[in-house]
Amino acid sequence: MEKPPEQVQQQLAAAIDEEKAAALRKRYLLRCCSCAGASLFFVAILAVTLAFTVFRVRGPVFRLNGSTAKLDLINGTHLPRPGSNATIRADVSVKNRNFASFRHGSSTSPVYYRGAAIGEARAPAGNMPARRTARMNVTVEIVMDRVLAQPDFGSDVKAGRATMSWRARVGGRMKFLFIKKHVTMKMNCTATVDVTKMEVAEYNCKPKMKLFS
Ligand SMILES: *[C@@H]1O[C@H](CO)[C@@H](O)[C@H](O)[C@H]1NC(C)=O
Ligand SMILES: *[C@@H]1O[C@H](CO)[C@@H](O)[C@H](O)[C@H]1NC(C)=O
Ligand SMILES: *[C@@H]1O[C@H](CO)[C@@H](O)[C@H](O)[C@H]1NC(C)=O
Ligand SMILES: *[C@@H]1O[C@H](CO)[C@@H](O)[C@H](O)[C@H]1NC(C)=O
Ligand SMILES: *[C@@H]1O[C@H](CO)[C@@H](O)[C@H](O)[C@H]1NC(C)=O
Repeated sequence: MEKPPEQVQQQLAAAIDEEKAAALRKRYLLRCCSCAGASLFFVAILAVTLAFTVFRVRGPVFRLNGSTAKLDLINGTHLPRPGSNATIRADVSVKNRNFASFRHGSSTSPVYYRGAAIGEARAPAGNMPARRTARMNVTVEIVMDRVLAQPDFGSDVKAGRATMSWRARVGGRMKFLFIKKHVTMKMNCTATVDVTKMEVAEYNCKPKMKLFS
């Protein structure tokens, strides 16, 4: 049998090499892909870990923008009608400092004035995008008879200011990329009313966040 010419032999060797090379390339690609996938996965995990730990889940910052008060007065006087309620609406801006969005439920909390329950504070549910400021109307309904029954109310009126407080507890969810975490926000809030102008002079909420893994 005649030996294949050298040229054919070379072609054959090249073909075999090519096959090997293709297989190698494929293996390399596969390894590369899984490697990239794994890196991406770790980067994501790292980002999530950072978003929730290093950057810390911090409570939102509340800032008063304005307020309105609605009083039911006896005709021709500045005295509230017996059995009536006063409604104060505080326009509050809420800044979410986190890198995760924060969706939260509504809240209704008893409001105290000089130790006595005098009404109710209501805050609506909302969804705050990450690193954004949202607006919220907080409504405080005050049973005037209970305020008038406080022996120190007179002196507060003379001083021009009355401070009420409440504690709110709000359930919510924080979301960063594809990771969702349940969270509860507890707040101690105070609102100081300028009695002569009948508007909120100071509004303060100190939140505490608790994350559930
Ligand atoms: C505050 O409220 C006023 C209206 O009462 C509005 O014009 C203004 O844009 C608000 N400012 C902020 C920072 O939300
Ligand atoms: C109070 O005064 C307004 C007009 O100033 C009158 O329309 C209203 O009927 C009065 N209400 C009462 C309960 O007297
Ligand atoms: C006054 O407010 C209290 C507490 O929010 C509520 O239970 C009551 O029904 C209100 N009364 C009136 C007349 O709106
Ligand atoms: C707050 O209440 C005012 C008056 O009722 C309304 O115009 C405004 O849209 C409310 N803001 C929000 C964020 O609900
Ligand atoms: C609210 O105040 C009470 C004491 O007045 C304190 O025990 C509690 O930890 C405070 N909660 C928050 C969320 O700051």
